[in-house]
Amino acid sequence: MVAVGMRILGIESSCDETGVAVIDADAHGTPRLLGASLHSQIAMHQAYGGVVPELASRDHIRRVLPLTEAALAEAQCGLESIDLIAYTRGPGLAGALLVGAGVAVSMAAGLGRPTMGVHHLEGHLLSPFLSVDPPEFPFVALLVSGGHTQLMQVDAVGSYTLLGETIDDAAGEAFDKSAKVLGLGYPGGPALAALAERGDPKAFKLPRPLLHSGNLDFSFAGLKTAVMVQFNKLGPSPTEQSRADLAASTQAAIVDVLVKKSLTALESRGANRLVVAGGVGANRALRMALDAACQARAIRVHYPELHLCTDNGAMIAMAAALRWQAGLFDTERPPQYGFQVRPRWPLDAIDDGA
Ligand code: KG4
Ligand code: ZN
Repeated sequence: MVAVGMRILGIESSCDETGVAVIDADAHGTPRLLGASLHSQIAMHQAYGGVVPELASRDHIRRVLPLTEAALAEAQCGLESIDLIAYTRGPGLAGALLVGAGVAVSMAAGLGRPTMGVHHLEGHLLSPFLSVDPPEFPFVALLVSGGHTQLMQVDAVGSYTLLGETIDDAAGEAFDKSAKVLGLGYPGGPALAALAERGDPKAFKLPRPLLHSGNLDFSFAGLKTAVMVQFNKLGPSPTEQSRADLAASTQAAIVDVLVKKSLTALESRGANRLVVAGGVGANRALRMALDAACQARAIRVHYPELHLCTDNGAMIAMAAALRWQAGLFDTERPPQYGFQVRPRWPLDAIDDGA
C-alpha cells in the first residue's frame, strides 16, 4: 500500500548543535513543520576556542532524548505516531554522528518503523523549503557552511551537480579564523560580522582569491594570512576602530568572492534562481550584496529563515520528507536496523550512502 502521509522525526547531531524536529508530509505540497527543538553547544566549546569532538559527542548523548520529547510535545504527538525516523548520516564528526544515528535507529527498531540516513548538506540545501516562500526547481545553490563552500546545480530533490568548491578553507572557516586573529570568540562568523558593522570595508586592501580565475572554485586560506599580516601591522594595542575596519574589510573580501562566483555560476547555467544555504547564509552583508546584484539581473534569491541557516533538526526532517515525496525512499522495503555514519561524504556521491 502506498503511504498517503508521512510523519517524520528528524535528528541532527553532526557537529555542535543537537536538533530534533517533527514534520508532516502529504504525497504532494510543501511539508509542514509541527515542532522543533535545538541545543547549541557554543557556550561549552567557547572555552577551548573551537569544537572539541569528544565533548560534542557526550553533550549530544545528554541532550538528544529531552530534545526529542520537547519536539514531540510541541508537535502534540507521541513517538508512536511517527512513521519514519531520519538522522544525519554525514558528513560531520564521527562520534557526534554516531549519537544521532544510534538513537534514531534504536527508537525506530523499538517502534518497528523505517529509518533514513540524510546527507547534512542536502539538509542545508533544502532548508529554504521551510520558509514561507519556497523555491522552485531548478536552481543554483551557494552552500556556505563552516566546513563547505560549494556551488551546485540543483535540478530536483536528489539531483545535485557540483559546479565548484573551495580548494582549501571554507567561507565559514575564513570568518572563524580571521575572527580568531582579531581576538574574537568562537564561533567567529557572527562576532566578526557584528564588529564589521562599525568598520569601513575599504580601509584595508585584502586579497580576493581566485576572483578572476574563470572557474567556480574558491580559495580562502590566503585571506586569513593577509588578515594576520595587517593585524600585526596595527601593533600591540590596536584601536577599536582599526579592528572594526579590518573586520569589515575581511567580510567584504569574502562577500565579494561569494557574490562574483555565484553570478558566474548563474550565468554559465542560464539560471535565474539562486538558493543560499548554510551558516554563512545568515550574514547580513552577504544577503545585502547578493540581493542587490541579483535584483539588477532579475534573479530571484531564496534564503532559509535566519534561525534555520545554522544546523538544526528541521532541515534533516525536511530533506527526508522531500526525498520521500520524490520517490527516493522505498517504503515497501523492510526496515534495516544496521547503520553506518559517513564522516566524509561528498554530496554528489549521495546515492552511495543508502
Ligand atoms: O552550517 P553551519 O551551522 O555548520 C556547518 O555545517 O559547518 O555553519 C557554521 C558556520 C561557522 O563558520 C560560523 O562562523 C558561520 O557559519 N556563521 C556566520 C554567521 N553565522 C554563522 N558567518 C558569518 N556571518 C554570520 N552571521
Ligand atoms: Zn551545517
